[in-house]
Amino acid sequence: MSGFSAEWLALRESHDVRARNPVVLDAMASLFKSRDAASVVDLACGAGSTVRALSSHLPARQHWRLVDNDQRLLTLACSGKYTGDVRLDAVPLDLSSNFEVVFDGTIDLITASALLDLVSEPWLDRFARNIAARRLPVYAALTYDGRIDLSPTDQLDMAIASAVNGHQRTDKGFGPALGPSAAAAAISKFEALGYSVVHGSSDWLIGAADHEIQLELLDGWANAAREVEALPHRDIDNWLTRRKNEVGAGVSTMRVGHVDFFATPIAIR
Ligand SMILES: C[S@@+](CC[C@H](N)C(=O)[O-])C[C@H]1O[C@@H](n2cnc3c(N)ncnc32)[C@H](O)[C@@H]1O
Repeated sequence: MSGFSAEWLALRESHDVRARNPVVLDAMASLFKSRDAASVVDLACGAGSTVRALSSHLPARQHWRLVDNDQRLLTLACSGKYTGDVRLDAVPLDLSSNFEVVFDGTIDLITASALLDLVSEPWLDRFARNIAARRLPVYAALTYDGRIDLSPTDQLDMAIASAVNGHQRTDKGFGPALGPSAAAAAISKFEALGYSVVHGSSDWLIGAADHEIQLELLDGWANAAREVEALPHRDIDNWLTRRKNEVGAGVSTMRVGHVDFFATPIAIR
């Protein structure tokens, strides 16, 4: 499974749903309590998991503009069926270049899930300034924050996690990625731009029975560690074998750190 494949996005979705921070979600929903409609732009929508997670927290009449550069994912995202009057429009766009066009028109909310750790500092700065110039609220969820806690522990876990975090900072199409520092950087940028920010953790808590996602994560982390050449490949292979044996024995659990935030321009709260 590749990083953005429909199969991987489907596998992670139930973990994302459980992980989304309820306080941050409530803060977002409270903005719409006395409204009867919401117009939302979801950046890097993938197969539509943000619409599925947020739709029941928004007024019944919703218009979503779903933005991604993967046409196959956009088609999946727009095929969802929702209760209420929910309209979904696909916007095929490479967000690494001229993303400002998606902020034109009537918008009540910008959303993004599992996007900000992919972007660079200059991209985040441009994004935050554009949003602040339009005084738009932002809900950004599931930004990876660098924490990987595995149980039972293994002597190589820290070295692998450090290699993974090094890989997270490589270019994901937007310039050198912020990776684990993305959420903290975004929160302080929005605060500096006059926003009030509600934030909290949205960690994946992956249980011993969740074999499939554990095996996918382990393979992904081992590949990342190999790519950055931080450790001898034989050490990585041996670590992977030991960890997969723990998964097979039904004793492996994982916590993967993420952060959610909701940022609103102070005057409209
Ligand atoms: C980790 S996935 C998250 C998808 C979705 N938001 C979710 O939470 O399931 C990252 C998404 O970013 C999209 N993406 C990556 N680079 C992009 C770019 N340059 N322009 C637009 N979308 C991009 C991918 O196609 C993918 O759908």
